[in-house]
Amino acid sequence: MVRYSEELIDDIKNSNDIVDIVSQYVTLKRSGRNFFGLCPFHKEKTPSFSVSPDKQIFHCFGCGAGGNVIHFISKIENVDFKESLEILAERAGITLPTLENSFDEKKQILKEKIYEINKEVALHYHELLYKPISKPAQEYVKKRKLDNKTLKDYYIGYAPINFNLYGFLKEKGFNDEEILASDLVIKKGNTYIDRFKNRLIFPIQDVRNRFIAFGGRVLDNSLPKYINSPENLVYSKARNLYGLNIAKNSKLEKIIIVEGYMDVISLHQRGIENVVASCGTALTEAQGRLLRKYAEKVIISYDSDSAGQAATLRGLEILNNLGCDIRILQMEGAKDPDEYVIKYGNGRFNNLVENAISLIEFKVKVLKKDLDLENVNDKVKFLNEVAKLMSTIDNKIEQEIYIDKISKDYNISREAIYAQINKLIYSKNQGQKILEKKPINKENKKEDNIPTNLLKRENMIIALLLDGKVEVYNKIKKILSPEDFKRVENKEIVQKLYEEFEKGNSNIDNILEIFNENEKIIGILTGIMAEDNEIKDDQKAIEDLVKNYKKERLLARKKEIIKILESKEKSIEETKLLEKELQNLIINLTQLK
Ligand code: UTP
Ligand code: MN
Repeated sequence: MVRYSEELIDDIKNSNDIVDIVSQYVTLKRSGRNFFGLCPFHKEKTPSFSVSPDKQIFHCFGCGAGGNVIHFISKIENVDFKESLEILAERAGITLPTLENSFDEKKQILKEKIYEINKEVALHYHELLYKPISKPAQEYVKKRKLDNKTLKDYYIGYAPINFNLYGFLKEKGFNDEEILASDLVIKKGNTYIDRFKNRLIFPIQDVRNRFIAFGGRVLDNSLPKYINSPENLVYSKARNLYGLNIAKNSKLEKIIIVEGYMDVISLHQRGIENVVASCGTALTEAQGRLLRKYAEKVIISYDSDSAGQAATLRGLEILNNLGCDIRILQMEGAKDPDEYVIKYGNGRFNNLVENAISLIEFKVKVLKKDLDLENVNDKVKFLNEVAKLMSTIDNKIEQEIYIDKISKDYNISREAIYAQINKLIYSKNQGQKILEKKPINKENKKEDNIPTNLLKRENMIIALLLDGKVEVYNKIKKILSPEDFKRVENKEIVQKLYEEFEKGNSNIDNILEIFNENEKIIGILTGIMAEDNEIKDDQKAIEDLVKNYKKERLLARKKEIIKILESKEKSIEETKLLEKELQNLIINLTQLK
């Protein structure tokens, strides 16, 4: 990653107050020392998104997102840390120096070279498509009914069987390092092999029209059907959507998201231009954010097979959490949008778009799929699940509309549905559970079997360390090593904090930036900061905390050992070792009292 100096980063942070910046995206209300608002990173109705002017951080207690002002811009504008810094620098009128670090400068230059290579190759494969050598590909695109304008718009090309891409690129002046970094040529021993051979080529461009990767399709039924560029310096699959660079030029009241290259291209050719593809994988959060940047309404139009439907469900959750207005397109008589639009035309496809169903309707439909409503048991089950779904709709009018619709669609009386909902609400525990908002991500759930009090204590110790007092650190490090922490992220955090203290750097203002690559850790850290643990510099409190922490860990281990000893399958050596550990453990425990 490109690094600007810490002083410069501080300067940029200091010139951009987090409350000012966040206010441009979120309506904030002051409450005590902090500000609160609706989280822009997940869907919610009550504010759990907090901004602390003192600490200059944001943290969402709902979804766990957090960070400083740079992370906020990076997340909301869907840009990397460096670009975020650049945006904030510009806002504050700070001029950034040219890259300082020679390693990163080299990397940056290499990146630019890869873009260049990709462009040369895309254009060349595209030109080759029209040459006699590409006869099989020409026949293939004809068979797929791609017209010339489409071939040109998407730079569709052909990688011949016998082509020497290495030689081609060498001639253009690229060196071995650059050529291999593009991943378009693979080195085996002393030979250089083209990654794509005898394949129809779909260059992938990012929103800025840079060529970042390639997909290549076989011309027959052999496997694998597609191969794609691997992830590299310029290509991150999870952050891009195929066709967005073109779709963004169309009227974007809504965006249709499809699975494949061919779906995008085929729809576009037939006048449906607001289409992008997630390229066969489940939609990622970064892609979701990218989509939301361009349109609020998203129509999911995945393949009608079961894999497509499963991918639809996963994508739905992500988009829903991002607050998108989602519709699911229902398609019959074709396996994917490409086939559909060829068979039935764009008019009928547009009808499907208009009639795409809502998330709730889709869920009901999925529910119904495996059930036979003529069967009493199934019908009860269906009613029960429908009621659960309905009780997640906060808006009463909306709820009523859905209930009406479902009662008509599935021939079930409205009264039966209402009765079931009421039953859910009044059967206390269960009703409570259902009415509770589902946790948005794992951060909200109890961490993999770590007891809550232990987790809380770990957080408090980290909070103490974050205070930056060397005496406190010296005390804690005597008793606890990073390895002692249960939550994996905490191990990493404490390790880093210890390192910083050892370097004599007790003022850890940039702790969040140390973990730039790890959103989860940043979220945990801002969670701890936002919690206001109110620990005074009371030596005794620290000792107690640390002692108790250690004790809890020893007790947990003791329990574990006893459990193993009581179970049957173990060797004599193992038993001996465990018994020894147990003895030591008990001695340690008594010393802690
Ligand atoms: P599909 O199998 O639905 O292909 O995969 P398609 O796009 O409809 O292509 P045609 O119509 O058969 O020619 C959907 C997407 O999944 C990715 C590609 O991005 C493809 O467009 N995929 C699929 C792969 O990356 N590799 C594969 O082997 C198959
Ligand atoms: Mn297809």
